Amino acid sequence: MSQLQGEIITADAPSSNLGNYEEAYANFHWEDVEKQFSWYVTGKVNLAYEAIDRHVDAGKGDRPALLFSDSARNETYTFADLQRKSNQFANVLRGQGISKGDRVFVFMPRSPELYVSILGIIKIGAVVGPLFEAFMETAVKDRLEDSGAVALVTTPGLLPRVKRDELPLLKTIFLVGEDIETQEGIVDYNTAMEAASEETEIEWVNREDGLILHYTSGSTGKPKGVYHVHNAMLQHYHTGSVVLDLRENDVYWCTADPGWVTGTSYGIFAPWLHGVTNVVRGGRFSPGDWYETLQRNKVTVWYSAPTAFRMLMGAGEDIVKQYDLSHVRHILSVGEPLNPEVVRWGHKVYGHRIHDTWWMTETGGQLICNYPSMPIKPGSMGKPVPGIEAAIIDDNGKILPPNRMGNLAVRTPWPSMMRLIWNNAPKYEEYFRIPGWYISGDTAYMDEDGYFWFQGRIDDVINSSGERIGPFEVESKLVEHPAVAEAGVIGKPDPTRGEIIKAFISLREGYTPSEELKAEIARFVKEGLSAHAAPREIEFKDKLPKTRSGKIMRRVLKAWELNLPAGDLSTIED
Ligand code: WT7
Repeated sequence: MSQLQGEIITADAPSSNLGNYEEAYANFHWEDVEKQFSWYVTGKVNLAYEAIDRHVDAGKGDRPALLFSDSARNETYTFADLQRKSNQFANVLRGQGISKGDRVFVFMPRSPELYVSILGIIKIGAVVGPLFEAFMETAVKDRLEDSGAVALVTTPGLLPRVKRDELPLLKTIFLVGEDIETQEGIVDYNTAMEAASEETEIEWVNREDGLILHYTSGSTGKPKGVYHVHNAMLQHYHTGSVVLDLRENDVYWCTADPGWVTGTSYGIFAPWLHGVTNVVRGGRFSPGDWYETLQRNKVTVWYSAPTAFRMLMGAGEDIVKQYDLSHVRHILSVGEPLNPEVVRWGHKVYGHRIHDTWWMTETGGQLICNYPSMPIKPGSMGKPVPGIEAAIIDDNGKILPPNRMGNLAVRTPWPSMMRLIWNNAPKYEEYFRIPGWYISGDTAYMDEDGYFWFQGRIDDVINSSGERIGPFEVESKLVEHPAVAEAGVIGKPDPTRGEIIKAFISLREGYTPSEELKAEIARFVKEGLSAHAAPREIEFKDKLPKTRSGKIMRRVLKAWELNLPAGDLSTIED
């Protein structure tokens, strides 16, 4: 570990919003951030107002807020446009009897309507539930059911994945598309929007009222509903300033989809709280398309993920030279370990350092980061955001000295800390089992200079291309296949994707292993759950290692895979 610590890439922008890190850290007060917002005075708040309407009230309504493009559309929306449209959708929702505290989900590809819907839901004080468009039947049903969602915004193409007869609480579906046939419970989004007033009464809520419910995976059980409140905007605003380094005239592009927390906290909230122009590009990843998006929109601040940067690195240097990327000032990354090699390559080819940031769905916002004004040690996640205390602690809560690996923990609370796991208090409490600390589930160490270095996950959660996948959810789907008796799923290290999903499977009587069967089983998961949850590798085994209580020992599977010692086997079945 110490070998890496020696390398330093010096600061590339000493005149950033943050300025000197140590000074900023020492002098920080959350109250100074609170004073940015009207609710410091009134006590009442609505994030959608602060993100959109506030800028219109300040005379900046004509400023471009959303630059949307995909293969079919290329559209610009100002802050005033988004104010009117989100007001309209707020009125549409109210027209269906939807109100404060209700869970309203969005399930569609990136489009202006998706962003307008999210803002409209927040404006009436309802709780947004974003679903990734690749989710299939089971993934959609589990989330809508657990949350008790009353309404959903989706498209005709995705509607067949919504099992309405199994979701009695789901009363209303808004369909975004052409020639919608309305029926009981189905509302044509476009027609309803046209008929709705462009003015609305914003629902003023308390800081601790619900904002968003992001489902994410753990190592056991179904996905967990991570619940965030309006107060989280303090973290979004603060980090938008000191980490994203946003300035008034920036054009900002976060490549994440709102189905994941990066796509909401940093794809919607942080940039718009700062009144900054936000680029959204629909469609799939391709290096040429991404560079073209940076060039065409004159992007200044670019937030993406290690898998994307590794693929861009794979596409080489020549393609970079075909585009004018001269407007780019600041590059950031999140989601999985950022390889030192990628940081070096980016520095050479883009002429900028890639700033790694660490956080989680549960933390609601960035916590440990690299800053434009601070030297980067490639491979390190950086240092705690001002206002955040992070430490490496042992299982008893004792703070460990530098260079000792342990639990990466954060002092509680902070503004964007999750406030609930929906319907699951025991799961929530697990994170806070050591008084005064949030236990992340990651292991790390801190060096003598206070830089944090990611080491791994304590649980079996898989991180493939920056997407967090719970092995239990995949295993549950696998055993629904008629050929599968038992299944154990692990993350296998992969040079591009970080990890890929590998499934160990024992077959039922009467089935013989074959390549066709592997492909069919993988397709079964892809079509039932989602493409990113489908195993890329399957290995058939006569028997899987299990504890005496019948739990599949993924740690043993991982040891098989990596040719490592399996560790303590005292609980194994035989
Ligand atoms: C897990 C959280 C919140 C943004 C997207 C991921 C891993 C996240 C880093 C990083 C190494 C990272 C951790 C974490 N992770 N950022 N910079 N370096 N690992 O959110 O899906 O909730 O996953 O992603 O293991 O616990 P998420």
